Amino acid sequence: MIEIIGPLANPAATTTSGNGEKSVPLQKQLIERLQQAILTGRLPAGSLLPSSRLLAAEMGVSRNTVVIAYEHLAAVGYVVADKKGTRVSPLSSPSARGETRTSSAAPEVAYAARVEQFAATRTHADNTLPLTPGTPALDRFPLAAWRRALERSMERALPVALGYGDPAGEPALRDAIAAHLRMARGVRCEGSQVVITEGAQEALNLCVRLFTNPGDIAWVEDPGYRGAKAAFNLGDLSMLPMPVDPEGIAVPSDAWRAHPPKLIYTSPAHQYPTGAVLSVARRLELIAQARRCGAWLIEDDYDGEFRHTGEPIASMQGLVEDAPVLYVGSFSKTMFPALRIGFVVLPRVIAAHTAVALQEMLRGGHRLEQLALAHFIDSGEFGRHLGRMRRLYRERQQALRDALTMHFAPSQILGGNCGMHLTLRLPPHISDRTLAERALARRLNPRPLSGFALQQREETNGLVIGYGSTSAEQLALAVRVLATLVREMAGESGIRSTTRRAV
Ligand SMILES: Cc1ncc(COP(=O)(O)O)c(C=O)c1O
Repeated sequence: MIEIIGPLANPAATTTSGNGEKSVPLQKQLIERLQQAILTGRLPAGSLLPSSRLLAAEMGVSRNTVVIAYEHLAAVGYVVADKKGTRVSPLSSPSARGETRTSSAAPEVAYAARVEQFAATRTHADNTLPLTPGTPALDRFPLAAWRRALERSMERALPVALGYGDPAGEPALRDAIAAHLRMARGVRCEGSQVVITEGAQEALNLCVRLFTNPGDIAWVEDPGYRGAKAAFNLGDLSMLPMPVDPEGIAVPSDAWRAHPPKLIYTSPAHQYPTGAVLSVARRLELIAQARRCGAWLIEDDYDGEFRHTGEPIASMQGLVEDAPVLYVGSFSKTMFPALRIGFVVLPRVIAAHTAVALQEMLRGGHRLEQLALAHFIDSGEFGRHLGRMRRLYRERQQALRDALTMHFAPSQILGGNCGMHLTLRLPPHISDRTLAERALARRLNPRPLSGFALQQREETNGLVIGYGSTSAEQLALAVRVLATLVREMAGESGIRSTTRRAV
């Protein structure tokens, strides 16, 4: 029996162990072991358990301990006792059918097809590890000022703000966002066009629900943002990958006629993840063609606030009057991700009409945080925080670029004039997924570029490297580790570099 249920721990006592943990009483241990063996089929239905005397001797416990354990298992139906002995009951469990399944195995559930499409490609690593793309400098967030803003909204807005709010969000926040976007991003909007959402992700989901039907065609940048693809999957859209080059999304000229889209996802200010800036010529072409075929352009301006060189690149939405653009933004980078506040700016012509649908689709909540954020923006605290972070990210970006150019060819480094990440292209013999896995084992969390691509190509082999939450000193060390890993992998593949470059 001991081979089936294993030896019991600390059979001597039920006292507290040296490390302060309380030992589990022998009786309880025995019950749990027998239950597990029955549930997993190691003790199949009908099998005869040893007599209490034999099991007690084998396990090194008192006979009374076994008797009580058997009585308990009989009381809850795991075993039945009769004159011939104690037997495992026929349970309607895998064990009863002789199947074995460990408790950690996934249950057999018929998920919706759209959920099955979320291939298990993402590693759920700690997103505060060095080099994680997209994580801002959380330790530099002005918590004291934020606490004051929260307290202020509690003092002024309670108890009314405990009830449901406007489904489109607090008017004060919608106005504050609109004023900020007009000035900082050249967006043409009023507060009435802004819908507050739970991060950019809900804004993307909302765009899908408002403007598409299942089966409609949606174009996505490839490589591109996984969150957009997830939203399109959930809407049962038919996704068409569009290549990306140094001028941003590159739409083949016949695509508009051959595969007319309903939605087009773009990140014009800083293509995610390659960092390309969408050229003005392409912006105008996209707007004109989308207007012609009745499509909506999603402009995801996730980190456009952090421009490191030259003038800020204004939004595509503001380029022409009434552009068919759904401008999506988020406070995940400018404030902090757990705030879960984002927004979509709807075109003026449809904002009023959409409000009716929003009444059914959304519930207004998180009102205190929204009011606090409105005050944070209006009081100038947000602008000051952005200014500080812009300087910090500029320095960190330079530090990462310097470190990378010590080990890799400059032509391998993509992007970098905006935001919080750079992308490093890798040669074909260095698998980005293997490199990312090995980096994670060293507690570094760059992401494989191929994980953002629907169509795997030579150019989609690389690493997306975040610098927002990593200090300049850490960046230098981390890049040295990456270069060592790359050299090791190059050695394993038989291709050695003759320069001091890693590959
Ligand atoms: C391209 C892109 N868009 C939007 C977001 C923000 O998403 P959310 O507001 O849901 O946190 C991110 C975050 O990583 C992003 O990388």
